[in-house]
Amino acid sequence: MDEPLVMLRRLLPEPGGVTAVEALDGLALADLAPGHRPYLVLNMVATADGAAAVAHRTAPISSPADRQLFHELRAHVDAVMVGAGTVRTERYGRLVRDPQRRERRVARGLAPEPLAVIVSRRLMLTPDLPLLADPHSRVVVLTAGDAKLAECAADVSYLRSAPGEEVDLSAMLARLRTEHGVRSVLCEGGPNLNTSLLPAGLVDELFLSITPALAGSAGSRSIVDRAPLAEPVGLELVGLLESGSQLFARYALQR
Ligand SMILES: NC(=O)c1ccc[n+]([C@@H]2O[C@H](COP(=O)([O-])OP(=O)(O)OC[C@H]3O[C@@H](n4cnc5c(N)ncnc54)[C@H](OP(=O)(O)O)[C@@H]3O)[C@@H](O)[C@H]2O)c1
Repeated sequence: MDEPLVMLRRLLPEPGGVTAVEALDGLALADLAPGHRPYLVLNMVATADGAAAVAHRTAPISSPADRQLFHELRAHVDAVMVGAGTVRTERYGRLVRDPQRRERRVARGLAPEPLAVIVSRRLMLTPDLPLLADPHSRVVVLTAGDAKLAECAADVSYLRSAPGEEVDLSAMLARLRTEHGVRSVLCEGGPNLNTSLLPAGLVDELFLSITPALAGSAGSRSIVDRAPLAEPVGLELVGLLESGSQLFARYALQR
């Protein structure tokens, strides 16, 4: 663990003080999976006025508590899914670096490392990207057409839709389940990928960190940001934590 453990104030369901590990204990997301695809939770951070990044990075709107929940969520899932834009901008590396987290994963019956799932049309991801340069990484690329990444140290495989602009995410998630045994997915965005996942009804829960700051709209993006959604997606609050005025909400998506 890089940073001292932060205590969070749990407001919902039952009030109490918890660490990130305790807050997420017993999550058992795979048990909630429908028959045909993995259970998918989206984890995002935004300022109180809805900015999903400042100067194209999430670090300025994150915090130690946010980072601990972010990393601890990774210790609960079969796969971490992310759009290529976020992989590039945030320079993704090895998904679970902390040996204790890897041990907790194994104790839960999971592989030591989650599968990294990258969604990309253009495959503009270079082999020096820390995630791809790490021989511990197991990566599945969801793409359309038959392009490949350049040779890299990570173990990379592909699930391909028919050639075209959009990856059929519904079909791809079903294949992640049948071909890779993935029953739980943590999606870490970004805003572009979220805009494909939400209208397709593929998101089951949203973990949203609400940072106590205002960033203004210039150059910022919201957590769902490529095209307007045809209609608002309703959310039901099922959990709420607080630390340093930052709120950590867990929402179930209403169908
Ligand atoms: N606030 C947060 O919690 C949060 C989380 C994540 C990211 N971010 C921020 O968001 C920014 C990145 O945003 P972004 O919207 O560019 O990232 P993104 O959604 O991660 O990536 C967009 C890219 O993903 C691929 N993609 C997405 N949907 C696809 C589909 N249906 N079919 C095929 N490919 C698809 C495309 O890849 P190709 O370009 O390779 O074709 C697309 O250009 C960064 O500034 C990052 O810091 C914020």
